Amino acid sequence: MTVETGVLERYSQGAEARQADLCCPVDYDRTLLALLPQEIIEKDYGCGDPSRYVKKGDTVLDLGSGSGKICYMAAQLVGDQGKVIGVDMNEDMLALARKYQDEMAKKLGSNRVEFLKGQIQDLALDVSAMDKYLEQNPVRKAEDVINLRAWQERQRNESPMIKDNSIDLVVSNCVLNLVHDSDKGQMIREIFRVVKPGGRVAISDIVSDEVAPEHLKQDQHLWSGCISGALQEHEFLEAFVKAGFIAVSYDKWESQPWQVVEAIEFRSVTITAVKPQTEACIDKGHAVIYRGPFSEVYDDEGHVYFRGERMAVCERNFKLLTGETYGHNFIGIAPAEELPGKLWDCATGSIRDIAETKGGQHQDKCSPDGACC
Ligand SMILES: C[S@@+](CC[C@H](N)C(=O)[O-])C[C@H]1O[C@@H](n2cnc3c(N)ncnc32)[C@H](O)[C@@H]1O
Repeated sequence: MTVETGVLERYSQGAEARQADLCCPVDYDRTLLALLPQEIIEKDYGCGDPSRYVKKGDTVLDLGSGSGKICYMAAQLVGDQGKVIGVDMNEDMLALARKYQDEMAKKLGSNRVEFLKGQIQDLALDVSAMDKYLEQNPVRKAEDVINLRAWQERQRNESPMIKDNSIDLVVSNCVLNLVHDSDKGQMIREIFRVVKPGGRVAISDIVSDEVAPEHLKQDQHLWSGCISGALQEHEFLEAFVKAGFIAVSYDKWESQPWQVVEAIEFRSVTITAVKPQTEACIDKGHAVIYRGPFSEVYDDEGHVYFRGERMAVCERNFKLLTGETYGHNFIGIAPAEELPGKLWDCATGSIRDIAETKGGQHQDKCSPDGACC
């Protein structure tokens, strides 16, 4: 049995009947759960609640949507202008989630959730379309495999299941750990591909404090049970930084491990990250002051900010640092008079001449009495 067949088998059983050992206690928002059918709530194999990060109007993609719980919770938050897409590779899980689609559409007032068959490490490949292709073109000999690969390449390029830059928020609940280690890098690159510039990621998963040794990884039951496939806690964040995400953070960290195996702690966490905007870095004379409490900080693009100094930033980074993600850490100062604007590499950590921002508009997400909002 391989990692993938083991995972398929385990979650087919999980769709059929509740598997108590796959359940990790989570404190979901009860008002959102109230609308959900009991069977979906019971067959919950999540380990966190990424639905908390959903905003009105978002297009949300849920990776490994299982019974559809997070999708149907998110659907209540996106409203009728938003949309939720669940992707899962398991037919039985998809059937369970889809069983309640009409009922949920009636309760929600519109059909704003869809479930697609696919693998989260290959979000361009439409596995339902591949099933249809295989009905017409069964694989019998080596040439058929070559033709299948050519069809897959065409399908990914011509009609990707999830298009580039199409998603506001990618969520996932206890799934990334199940993907084969050799596919995990591609999976995170796929997440990066589909998120819009400025879009967000909120992923609840299991991490380990030490790298799980090979003999634990070979244990199919531990792997499909969301344990031995977990990334080590530092590697998990670094994988997102490496793929190009910024503002990569642990937002939730369960102090109590969910499982301890051979003295390795496996715990539930939620990470958040942002895909940077693609606009060029143009210097127009903006500055930001890092509030502290540390003497200096670096962002995920390598820029350094010294506490209390007016650090020179381009207009793009000014918007980012004074916006929702980082705004409570920085005071922004727009130039009194904008410079003509030149392409600029602000990675050097230069301090802005006071004269350039004197009299400029200050942007401060914290209230005048100093209490951060
Ligand atoms: C632990 S369950 C979590 C289900 C759901 N997110 C929840 O909160 O209950 C893992 C789900 O991910 C799916 N899955 C595992 N590996 C996958 C992959 N590589 N691509 C797509 N789905 C996958 C499984 O079929 C299963 O439904």
